[in-house]
Amino acid sequence: MKILLFGKNGQLGWELHRSLQGLGQVLAYDYPEVDFCVPSTFRQVIENNRPQIVINAAAYTDVDKAESEEAKARLINADAPGILAEISRKLEAAFIHYSTDYVFDGEKSAPYTEEDAPHPLNVYGQTKLEGEGAVLQAGGTSLIFRTAWVYSMRRESFVSKVLSWAHSQREMRIVEDQVSNPTWARALAEITAQLLAKAGPAPHPWLAERRGLYHLAGWGFASRLEWAKAIFRNDPNQARQVVQRVLPARSAEFPTSAARPLFSALDCGKFERTFALRLPDWELALRLAMETG
Ligand SMILES: NC(=O)c1ccc[n+]([C@@H]2O[C@H](COP(=O)([O-])OP(=O)(O)OC[C@H]3O[C@@H](n4cnc5c(N)ncnc54)[C@H](OP(=O)(O)O)[C@@H]3O)[C@@H](O)[C@H]2O)c1
Repeated sequence: MKILLFGKNGQLGWELHRSLQGLGQVLAYDYPEVDFCVPSTFRQVIENNRPQIVINAAAYTDVDKAESEEAKARLINADAPGILAEISRKLEAAFIHYSTDYVFDGEKSAPYTEEDAPHPLNVYGQTKLEGEGAVLQAGGTSLIFRTAWVYSMRRESFVSKVLSWAHSQREMRIVEDQVSNPTWARALAEITAQLLAKAGPAPHPWLAERRGLYHLAGWGFASRLEWAKAIFRNDPNQARQVVQRVLPARSAEFPTSAARPLFSALDCGKFERTFALRLPDWELALRLAMETG
């Protein structure tokens, strides 16, 4: 199997580059070699390599900065994925793409399913939603995985920030009104590889039967405060922690340029029913991530 991966240096892309080894030949690219703002750069890479699978882990992910860089966020999150899906269809390659829980407004009180109507509150969520639409519109064999609260132990993430606060501050205030599914980038990469392994050496027909939109995030959900407490508990350097008090806070106390949904947990049942696979429970994955680094 020949796989072309975009975004190889990101949290998810870095893990995908490793997890996909063993499935065949993996050709991996990232900015600036490929710039999603300049379609000719990725068009050429796909057309020259003629892969069977194209995986897009690249995205404009700075949620706050996107508010003032809407045009750039749209090129990367909406236009480029649409073009990737279109080229993939023409070359009879399957296309795998990732989206976000931030397509929802967080007004629901139970986990969101694929049937729930999206209503993004910020530019990032809006451009990612447009990306989903463009990919589906292209009409090929595309699978879109909406995920949430992705972290890795390698790049800066909520986990690394909480750990560094715990090692430097006696008192911390963490929001308890934002709730979603913490998702370990490695587990998300591994489940993508497992799915492709199930698809077999000629994956296209199997994937074509299962194309569409799926929610795929850490099993279960938590508030940022619960997540932070689990990070303290699983910290392998407990002796370095100086934090003594962790106080609940409300999102409104920490204004940001981009509004965020409060409850954006994803129901991942459709993915589990379709592929007989699911991501580990978020807290178990966190423990494994913090043990292995
Ligand atoms: N992080 C989260 O909490 C979260 C939550 C829900 C969904 N998701 C989705 O999950 C996927 C993976 O996210 P992630 O956290 O792994 O993202 P990430 O760590 O920010 O990685 C994104 C990658 O895209 C690259 N990129 C940025 N601008 C580019 C451009 N103009 N051309 C080509 N590549 C460019 C980045 O390169 P540079 O580093 O050089 O900029 C980086 O390697 C994305 O689709 C994201 O929307 C993420």
